[in-house]
Amino acid sequence: MTITTMEARGTVVFPENFVWGAATASYQIEGAAKEGGRGPSIWDTFSATPGKVRDGDTGEVACDHYHRYRDDVALMRELGLGAYRFSVAWPRIQPTGSGPANSAGLGFYDRLVDELLEAGITPYVTLYHWDLPQTLEDLGGWTVRDTSHRFADYAAIMHDRLGDRVSHWTTLNEPWVAAFLGYGNGVHAPGRTSAHDALRAAHHLLLGHGLAARTLRAKGAEEIMLVVNSAPVLTPAQVNDPDVAPSAADAEAVQRIHALLTRQFLDPALAGRYPEEVLSAAGRNGGTAHIRDGDLEIVNAPIDLVGVNYYNPCVVDAAPGLPADAAWPGSEGVRFAPADAPVTAMGWPIVPSGLSRLLVRLSRDYPRVGLMVTENGAAFDDVVEHGRVHDDGRLAYLEGHLRAAHAAITAGADLRGYLVWSLLDNFEWAEGYRRRFGLVHVDYATQARTLKDSALWYRSVISDNGFTWGPNKP
Ligand code: FCB
Repeated sequence: MTITTMEARGTVVFPENFVWGAATASYQIEGAAKEGGRGPSIWDTFSATPGKVRDGDTGEVACDHYHRYRDDVALMRELGLGAYRFSVAWPRIQPTGSGPANSAGLGFYDRLVDELLEAGITPYVTLYHWDLPQTLEDLGGWTVRDTSHRFADYAAIMHDRLGDRVSHWTTLNEPWVAAFLGYGNGVHAPGRTSAHDALRAAHHLLLGHGLAARTLRAKGAEEIMLVVNSAPVLTPAQVNDPDVAPSAADAEAVQRIHALLTRQFLDPALAGRYPEEVLSAAGRNGGTAHIRDGDLEIVNAPIDLVGVNYYNPCVVDAAPGLPADAAWPGSEGVRFAPADAPVTAMGWPIVPSGLSRLLVRLSRDYPRVGLMVTENGAAFDDVVEHGRVHDDGRLAYLEGHLRAAHAAITAGADLRGYLVWSLLDNFEWAEGYRRRFGLVHVDYATQARTLKDSALWYRSVISDNGFTWGPNKP
């Protein structure tokens, strides 16, 4: 999507029934880490390990959402959200990752779901957003097959409890991150650093997805989704000019990284096969013995939607001789390059056109599933001034990406909804609390919530099902 001066102002209107909402994740907001019989997760262990998380931050208190969920749902209602995507903390449900359900843990999600329904907000439940019970990690974590089966058992428990009121189920959030940052470069919990472990974890996450999807379906789940962190893979020159043709070597690098990032998960889940690039990476890093006969049929369980978490494009070019990046087994000879674009406080380049390209491509490559943007947003150094947060940078980011989402729909992408990351400022994993992604500002000393300007703008987008952009807005 190129913006010309002819288009300096305009209105976008989204399709009827387009889903508008916001997302969070259990460990990032709940706090109450030792309450209600919750067991420790790998993120409790990891964040308590000196040097792993910036400033030594942990999720022990976070946004105290466990105690304040009623107020938070009231904020969602105030914003007019149609949908709220949250995750369940597996260790609240099964403190050691297997065995009978903990009723206090179930009770919390029960009350949250009721509160949402009461407010007219549709719950989108994610079963795994990275907080694996520590006991399962001690038994091998995602590097062992048993964890996939434990995950399906836990999915069954959740559906048995919430299935009468929840129709939208997501198995995994971003298996690429869980596998390759958790077990590959060790930047995330559990902090292991082995290419072989990371590839095995990726496969067992997929196997867990397939087993859980089958279980959920058998129990009558209406809609099942897999959420991936995807991005268009571009050469540096393509960031600002999509029509630049890459050299043969750069094109090969682009294709390989696309296979490692996106096709590694969506080809098995939606077509029952691994890309060659992934099998060859596994072959060079300990082998493929963990991929057993019949696994891919399980992984290829029918699902309805792919959730896309998009923040920025992935920019690469060929760099002969470079060893593989620790988070990218199979990336030998590829350089991860900076993008010529403004950046957020995370240092992530702001390239809205990447979202339309991505959605159009995914819709073309995987035509049998619908798409939903399940995360999109930006961190900026927000400050509260006289009760307001003038987060113009975030507002512009969201506006640009919503225009890109709309352009993708116009170009034929089957996009069903858009969820902002995040409802609240929260624990941003290895970056701790310093990075603020919320529509709502959280003062961690007092737990006071303040709607940012972007939240007020988003409220009007939701109520109008679109917006007018450009100068001289009415
Ligand atoms: C995604 C995660 C989410 C949040 C955003 C910024 O990778 O799914 O929890 O941390 O990044």
